[in-house]
Amino acid sequence: MENFNARPVALITGASSGIGETFARQLAGRGYDLILVARRAERLEALAEQLPTAARVLAADLVTEEGLAAVEAAIRECPRLEILVNNAGFGTLGRFWEANIGGQEKMHQLHVLATVRLTHAALRGMTARGKGAVVNVSSVAAFSINPGNVSYCSTKAWMNSFTEGLAIELRSIQSPVRVQALCPGFTITEFHDMVGVDRRNIPAWLWMKAEDVVAASLRGVDRGDVIVVPGLKYKAVVTFLRYLPPGVRRRMGRPFKDKRV
Ligand SMILES: NC(=O)c1ccc[n+]([C@@H]2O[C@H](COP(=O)([O-])OP(=O)(O)OC[C@H]3O[C@@H](n4cnc5c(N)ncnc54)[C@H](OP(=O)(O)O)[C@@H]3O)[C@@H](O)[C@H]2O)c1
Repeated sequence: MENFNARPVALITGASSGIGETFARQLAGRGYDLILVARRAERLEALAEQLPTAARVLAADLVTEEGLAAVEAAIRECPRLEILVNNAGFGTLGRFWEANIGGQEKMHQLHVLATVRLTHAALRGMTARGKGAVVNVSSVAAFSINPGNVSYCSTKAWMNSFTEGLAIELRSIQSPVRVQALCPGFTITEFHDMVGVDRRNIPAWLWMKAEDVVAASLRGVDRGDVIVVPGLKYKAVVTFLRYLPPGVRRRMGRPFKDKRV
């Protein structure tokens, strides 16, 4: 951190690809120094070299205690931290009881427990300094329940609820610190390759670019929006899902036989 100058700092988890990498590029463009977190250090190093501001690489597996503690320490030791982006995440395939329990457990550790630990560390400092923002990268899946995707939908729904709760607590002390749950729809990244889903099975018009998703999130941070759904089509989908009676929503799950769906 010695070579950091007086610029504000953003810490991004899952910065080695996709939405996290795009956050790094856009926040560097806005003049932030960066702390880049993910497991693939070589990807983070390559990204750091391309950025116009200073970037520290912090290789960490956020489903391990060691990895979480290292990132918490980096947050605590950085008084210029102004943005934390809890972005690291992954999907799985298959009905809950058929899927490997290890993957389900890791998903909860990454989407829920890592978000809890890192947000706690960040808000301690940000509320004391009266400045900063936390972006939790959720999903439009937070508003739905899909067969084959139960842990994903429920961890993202938790993320929205957690973020809205924090927004209410921050408001109760009139803190200028901002929190946001970013809820993208299908976005072109490595996410679906990792799960083993063929992107061609999803209609082309549903796909968004990570650049547009991140730009919408940062505009939302500027405005203080707590829930950000990028793209008009997904805003419409979410509005529909939000006002659907729970009983109807539970009956919406289409039968699926193909595990690739
Ligand atoms: N793409 C979509 O359609 C979409 C839609 C809605 C929401 N999202 C959400 O957007 C976020 C980013 O996903 P993406 O689409 O950008 O996918 P991605 O390209 O696969 O990126 C996922 C990132 O998470 C990191 N990561 C995964 N497990 C980790 C761990 N145990 N510890 C530390 N880092 C870990 C990966 O880095 P390493 O492998 O190097 O650790 C990678 O940088 C996720 O939370 C996802 O749920 C994506």
